[in-house]
Amino acid sequence: MKFLFSAFLLLLVAIGASAQTSVTWSGQAASIVYQHCTPCHRPGEIGPMPFTNYQEASAYASMISFTVQSGYMPPWQPDHNYSPLLGQRVMSQQEIQTIQDWVQQGALRGDPATEPSMPNYPIGSQLGQPDTVISMAQAYLHQGNNQDLYRVFVLPTNLNVAKKIKAIEFRAGNKSIVHHAILGIDVTGQGRQRDSLAPGYGYTQFFGFGFTPTEDNWYGWAPGAAAKYFPANIGKNLPAGADILVQMHYAPTSVAQTDSSSINLFYDRDNQVTRLEQITAISPMDLMNGPFVIPANTVRTFKGRMRVSTDVSLLSIFPHMHLIGKNWKVYAVKPGNDTVNLISIPEWDFNWQGFYYFPRLIKLPANSWIYAEATFDNRASNPNNPNTPPQPMSWGENTTDEMYLCYFGFVPYQAGDENIALSQDDAQNVLKISNKLYPIFPNPAANRVNIGFQLNHAGNIQLQVTDLQGKVVGQVHAGHYEPGQHILPFDCSSLSSGQYLVQLVTNQGSITQKLIKQ
Ligand code: HEC
Repeated sequence: MKFLFSAFLLLLVAIGASAQTSVTWSGQAASIVYQHCTPCHRPGEIGPMPFTNYQEASAYASMISFTVQSGYMPPWQPDHNYSPLLGQRVMSQQEIQTIQDWVQQGALRGDPATEPSMPNYPIGSQLGQPDTVISMAQAYLHQGNNQDLYRVFVLPTNLNVAKKIKAIEFRAGNKSIVHHAILGIDVTGQGRQRDSLAPGYGYTQFFGFGFTPTEDNWYGWAPGAAAKYFPANIGKNLPAGADILVQMHYAPTSVAQTDSSSINLFYDRDNQVTRLEQITAISPMDLMNGPFVIPANTVRTFKGRMRVSTDVSLLSIFPHMHLIGKNWKVYAVKPGNDTVNLISIPEWDFNWQGFYYFPRLIKLPANSWIYAEATFDNRASNPNNPNTPPQPMSWGENTTDEMYLCYFGFVPYQAGDENIALSQDDAQNVLKISNKLYPIFPNPAANRVNIGFQLNHAGNIQLQVTDLQGKVVGQVHAGHYEPGQHILPFDCSSLSSGQYLVQLVTNQGSITQKLIKQ
């Protein structure tokens, strides 16, 4: 009996072990890495090494395991247990465990035949074809001196009428150095003036623009951020003749590199926008325990508050401090004493900041209070302290000054706002983006052509070439694609001369374009 029992145990152990060894790249790990890591860890993006296939990922297996286990990767500063935020980069416990198991068991490949292919990331836009693209006038050379650089560029829109904006998409030109961008709007001409006075293209400024422009926090972008679109009848204003100010943070690099970034703007195509997002902020003037001074060798927590005077719907939040900032906690207390958590950033990192959006509009009735608590560590033991030895710090725009600012994007409340969600699908509806197949280029063609298309949803597609009778004569690609614009090359040199159709098949039907083979 005892023998039987231990045999049974052994059998269980054996089953357990075989279940454990079953975690492979092909089976489980690839799709997790492609979803959570590859958006930044691929050529041209900000992740320092690519994870676009088994070889690349398995070479870093133990570092992948370490960074995922510690929560260092994927980077996401806010505490997702405190409040949900749109586009949060958070892995489930199960996904984290699967990665641990994969690495612990030797980071095996599994069966290459069942390996999922890497998703095809959008080119040009995540949303579709923009109404206008505003680009830097020239490429900027970021020196290879291993220093951060904060530089403002002034981009004229050359618009002679005001526009309402439904979506904004910042496109980092050189994604391996652009670490964040804060956009402002200026009709005062002061941005242009500063640019013309400073040597080179743009001017250097640690944070903000060095003056108060017409709108100083129009949009904020950090790596991995999705395009910003406004739900329902909400939008942004772009005044006639405005310049877009782009405050760029270039990350340190050891080799000189150029960047030429651009901004895709999507207009309010059907005049739906009746409400403009407004920005307000909690600042040192709102402190309950001011003044805003952090003596040398101290840790100080400040608490400020702002009364909400009429019913509002909150869209977004952007806490901002400089280098010795440690953490943020921001919440609202409604008149009945209900607390609404807005954001908690337990470990502030100056390099990852920007607007965070709520998954739904948050209604705050009149006479609610918004509280913002922030801690600063001005001791020598803080490795981010810019002063050695520590100096008293207070409000200012320089690296060696500090800031306490929490911006809020809001609109006056309207009935039904609580039900407005800010999902990616919403953007597709709002912008009325359709699936599109662009005319083939060049056409007629002898060998290589470019096939451009736009998708309104992520999904499986087929792109193929048929003869005029509909018989498939060439496969361009089949697989999973993200929403947005994509371009694929196709070599038609093996086709005989004549007319063909390029066909894009999605689950919403098929679209064709003519192709003439020379
Ligand atoms: C939003 C962009 C982004 C995403 C998503 C992302 N990373 Fe990173 N990763 C970075 C950047 C930027 C760095 C380099 C700067 C740093 O270490 O913070 C980095 C660094 C790393 C490093 C090197 C760490 C070191 O100490 O040198 C590893 C390993 C890594 N990432 C793994 C991952 C894994 C695994 C995932 C997915 C679970 C992931 N990353 C997702 C941007 C990203």
